[in-house]
Amino acid sequence: MFDRRISRSATCQRLTATIVALLLAGTGVTHAQQADRQPPGNPLTTADLSGWLQTSAPNGRIDASNPFFQGLGSNGRSCNSCHRQAQGWTISPDELRQRFARTNGADPIFALVDGAVSPVADVSNVYARRSAYAMLLSRGLLRIGLPIPANAEFRLSKVDDPYGYASTRELSLFRRPLPSTNLVWLTAVMWDGRETFAPFKPPMDAGIDLENLRVSLASQARHAILGHEQAATAPGDAVIGQIVDFEMHLFTAQVDDNTAGQLNSDNAMGGANILAQQRFWIGINDTLGNDPTGDAFDEKSMRLFDDWNDPTAQFRRDPRGRARAAIARGEQLFNSMPIAISGVAGLNDVTGLPVIHGSCSSCHNSPNIGNHSMALPINIGLADANRRTADMPLYTLTNQATGKVVQTTDPGLAMITGKWADIGKFKGPILRGVAARAPYFHNGSAATLGDVIDFYDTRFNIHMSGQQKSDLVAFLSAL
Ligand code: HEC
Ligand code: HEC
Repeated sequence: MFDRRISRSATCQRLTATIVALLLAGTGVTHAQQADRQPPGNPLTTADLSGWLQTSAPNGRIDASNPFFQGLGSNGRSCNSCHRQAQGWTISPDELRQRFARTNGADPIFALVDGAVSPVADVSNVYARRSAYAMLLSRGLLRIGLPIPANAEFRLSKVDDPYGYASTRELSLFRRPLPSTNLVWLTAVMWDGRETFAPFKPPMDAGIDLENLRVSLASQARHAILGHEQAATAPGDAVIGQIVDFEMHLFTAQVDDNTAGQLNSDNAMGGANILAQQRFWIGINDTLGNDPTGDAFDEKSMRLFDDWNDPTAQFRRDPRGRARAAIARGEQLFNSMPIAISGVAGLNDVTGLPVIHGSCSSCHNSPNIGNHSMALPINIGLADANRRTADMPLYTLTNQATGKVVQTTDPGLAMITGKWADIGKFKGPILRGVAARAPYFHNGSAATLGDVIDFYDTRFNIHMSGQQKSDLVAFLSAL
């Protein structure tokens, strides 16, 4: 079903990367400029902050004639306006700022419908546009407008929207685009799972419930064309099918690290081509014992850099050896650094365990992929009132039955189910290719991978050392 392509000569690729890196170092170009460049002759590999990101696609090329790249609506946007290869198939604030500067805010991405802080914001001149599109420019956030569901167990009792728009009819939820790659392993589509059209079934033979996944992704694409692209009617099934085919055949991962070198050398398993062959089925390695094969959960969900785990001094003498050792240590920490998981709705309440003694891999359990292998909407506290920044709306929700009150910047899954218990629940995304797609979390609240680690450190009182933090960052940067 999925093409397995052999990567071009590894040495050639590494050489090209080194030459381009040297050239870039000499010219002092900024990261944003660098990310636009591609090593000559290898359109599947793009530079990012920590090295090179690789996308594997059928026939070794990105088919730019696919409707994914065509404006199918009325505002000039395509899927590619927000899903860019070089940015891990999401979009970076860096590029958005460049597009704004180049066009004075006239690039199609700057559209009132969901690019602005409010769909009725003033965009009459460039200064007004700069404020109207502030969330895109600062954190790459789109405004997802959703109504409180009709039979919700809660009502919106207070709105504090700095942009004066949100109401029960339409909450403004500022969210990052998710990557439109590595899709075959999704267990929930969208941050709140709202495009998971039918529950994905455990494996029959192929391991992935491709049929329901396709139905979900087709629905997602149709809604993106009607919504983001403002089409009057959605295109027919043939066009939608082409888009879904295209994105389902993309695999993306970091392939080369600036210091550690090629991430698939010396028995390491980085890069998109190896990733494309990853074994997976719905429920694989489930933390809560729901793997349909009956296998118990193995906390070593990531085993890409096992063989770089060589603690000998000799191995670490050179910068490359040290960088490799750091990545391998980071992987071990990801798998086994103890985290006392508490207060996570969807996990602690469901299991009845006030504290779960786990690690990063308890939630990021899909082997070498890093999402949860079954849909697991959970609330890790990112939308809590105490983390609210002044540029985010804050919503006060009151439970219709109990009168209890909760404040949140984004009710997440509760906006779909109407359930009180689902407030603040989101999915954990696939972690491959994560280096290229800052900022992180649904609300872009972590500017860097270091900020992601700091969030976990404070949220779960881990008390990591500086070394542990930088090892984890080195590992995430190599995914
Ligand atoms: C204006 C920006 C924008 C455009 C245009 C856009 N998207 Fe997205 N995309 C997003 C955002 C934002 C999300 C996450 C929204 C959420 O979860 O609430 C997203 C989510 C997705 C996801 C979900 C991935 C996952 O892990 O669940 C897929 C797939 C996707 N988009 C594909 C497409 C396709 C195909 C098109 C074109 C038909 C498209 N997008 C057009 C911004 C955009
Ligand atoms: C209790 C479950 C849980 C644990 C433990 C956990 N994560 Fe997460 N992770 C999530 C969820 C859920 C999200 C998405 C949250 C959101 O954005 O609302 C996430 C998001 C992320 C992201 C951002 C991905 C992106 O595309 O924005 C990274 C990186 C990440 N986690 C790494 C880690 C690391 C490293 C650890 C261990 C230190 C860890 N996680 C521990 C559940 C967890």
